Amino acid sequence: MTVTTLPPARTDAPVRDLRAWVADVADLTEPDAVVWCDGSDAERASLIAGMVETGTLLPLDPVLRPGSYLARSDPSDVARVESRTFICSRSQADAGPTNNWRDPDAMRTELAGVFAGSMRGRTMYVVPFSMGPVGGPISQVGVQLTDSPYVVVGMGTMTRVSRAVVDLVDGGAPFVPAVHSVGMPLRTADGTERPDVPWPCDDTKYIAHFPETREIWSYGSGYGGNALLGKKCFALRIASVMGRDEGWLAEHMLLVRVTSPQGRRYHVAAAFPSACGKTNLAMLTPTLPGWRVETLGDDIAWLRPGPDGTLRAINPEAGFFGVAPGTSVATNPAAIATLDRDTIFTNVALTPDGDVWWEGLTPEPPEGLVDWTGQPWTPDSGRPAAHPNSRFTVAAAQCPTIADTWEDPDGVPLDAIVFGGRRATNVPLVVQAHDWEHGVFLGATISSEQTAAAEGTVGELRRDPFAMLPFCGYDMADHWAHWLRVGQTLDPATRPLMFQVNWFRKDASGRYLWPGFGENIRVLAWIVAQVDRARGVRTDVGAVPSPVGLLPAPDALDVSGLDLPDDDLAALLDVDPATWSVEADLTEDFLAGFGDRVPDALHAQLAALRTRLTTS
Ligand code: GTP
Ligand code: SPV
Ligand code: MN
Repeated sequence: MTVTTLPPARTDAPVRDLRAWVADVADLTEPDAVVWCDGSDAERASLIAGMVETGTLLPLDPVLRPGSYLARSDPSDVARVESRTFICSRSQADAGPTNNWRDPDAMRTELAGVFAGSMRGRTMYVVPFSMGPVGGPISQVGVQLTDSPYVVVGMGTMTRVSRAVVDLVDGGAPFVPAVHSVGMPLRTADGTERPDVPWPCDDTKYIAHFPETREIWSYGSGYGGNALLGKKCFALRIASVMGRDEGWLAEHMLLVRVTSPQGRRYHVAAAFPSACGKTNLAMLTPTLPGWRVETLGDDIAWLRPGPDGTLRAINPEAGFFGVAPGTSVATNPAAIATLDRDTIFTNVALTPDGDVWWEGLTPEPPEGLVDWTGQPWTPDSGRPAAHPNSRFTVAAAQCPTIADTWEDPDGVPLDAIVFGGRRATNVPLVVQAHDWEHGVFLGATISSEQTAAAEGTVGELRRDPFAMLPFCGYDMADHWAHWLRVGQTLDPATRPLMFQVNWFRKDASGRYLWPGFGENIRVLAWIVAQVDRARGVRTDVGAVPSPVGLLPAPDALDVSGLDLPDDDLAALLDVDPATWSVEADLTEDFLAGFGDRVPDALHAQLAALRTRLTTS
């Protein structure tokens, strides 16, 4: 059968015929079989058994790590590929200057070429999934077609896969169609067979999004956000466009509930760029007595103005796809407990007794490790044992700190929104925004040192507005305008306060000034105390002005029991007008890159920052 183009796009009617679409994609990709998934335990078990047989998954020791497996990816397929991520909006201006734009018709033709016959010799799985509790008012549904059983199992953990989603679609609910192929057919068009490999993928990759028709097409990768299409592709890039059109926000944010020693509860969402500490903060084990932090989400939050004027938030995901390196009992004991069973590890090292290891798990590596590529490894190998972007895939329900409300379909009301990045210099440990507009300015101007979560030069400073640089499905400056609009619809009495944090400030010798991890509760405690002050619950003075925002007043930040020299604390909160005026110049250049789509309010914020810097 010859198929030359993709099923036609329907800009007018987001509701399409699910079965006809599945049949069209099967005609194009030519799988040997089509299997409709139901997300059951039996289905997971049988997919896993199949992958153990083909060598895609290695069973870990059933006593040390029950129900858990190790996957080793192809060394060329280890992270998100931002250079091959495309936003195919009708107009290039709608994708904005920070996205790779492609004309949708041209991209359809290109994709039709690579997807033609791409599933030959494989099974195409139909994976109906919900982002957020099935049928919830803030939730959305999608259907992923994929030729990767590893991806089916991953989607089963990261989203809610269920036949109930098919029922919703049959009842008329619009769904996001998402097509994925690893791009390694096992038979050529003329019938020549080739053997499968443990991690099939292709050198050519496409992560393509069609915002107007709410479609996703991903080709050539089996890794993380490239392939688990409910995550970055749907829950951020496509959902951000839905939010723009419908008055809500899809954000790269963790979500937690903080309970004070007095029993007061607060909900906090925080946007940090990839591999900058969301999972760690989401599962924080407080060092301050009497405080409690419960997990609602570690990567993505959907925020929607509620009928009562509050901003309500859900975590649309059902699992964690978390960075392994650096995770230990000392840095994140809740994550370590979460991983004690039923976890798929990808690209970590293997111990001789069939357990996993990664840099930072223990101070000393165990003897006899096999590295993430399958080679014997010793500390003097000169390369890491686990890939820096190695990850675990695990159900959120397994997390000992998961909040009892994490699946509440109506979400939780937000009290504070935090922006953060990885900055060795300049940016203080914490500042509070003067108001919503200033908070949007802080979010819009986040910069951070590049991590291993995507291809690129690790450590290079880049702007990552709202930690959404690779994840916003439309023009970033329009995203800022949308944030300003959403703020205006909220009740000023309960509107979340906004903050910026930086756990990563270093001294001249390169040492982190702030102990971080569980000690970050001290910053959260100040943040929620500021919420109390804004609401009139407390009347003491908590903050002092600085050119860049409100800093903790002397003694308002609890550093008791910390071995933190006064000089370090001063350095953590230092705002140097000279280096900040250089930041302001860079910010002006950065905003100029977005032309006249930048909201006036942000130019006004920059001017106000400059005034404060010169008069301070
Ligand atoms: P994505 O899943 O890529 O979106 O990342 P994430 O933001 O969830 O990152 P994660 O929490 O996994 O943290 C990544 C790295 O940051 C790990 O190596 C952590 O050890 C390190 N990290 C997290 N919190 C802190 C902190 O408070 N201080 C310091 N110094 N490092 C931290
Ligand atoms: C990120 O890079 O921000 C992640 C990992 O959360 S991935 O799912 O690969 O996008
Ligand atoms: Mn992320």
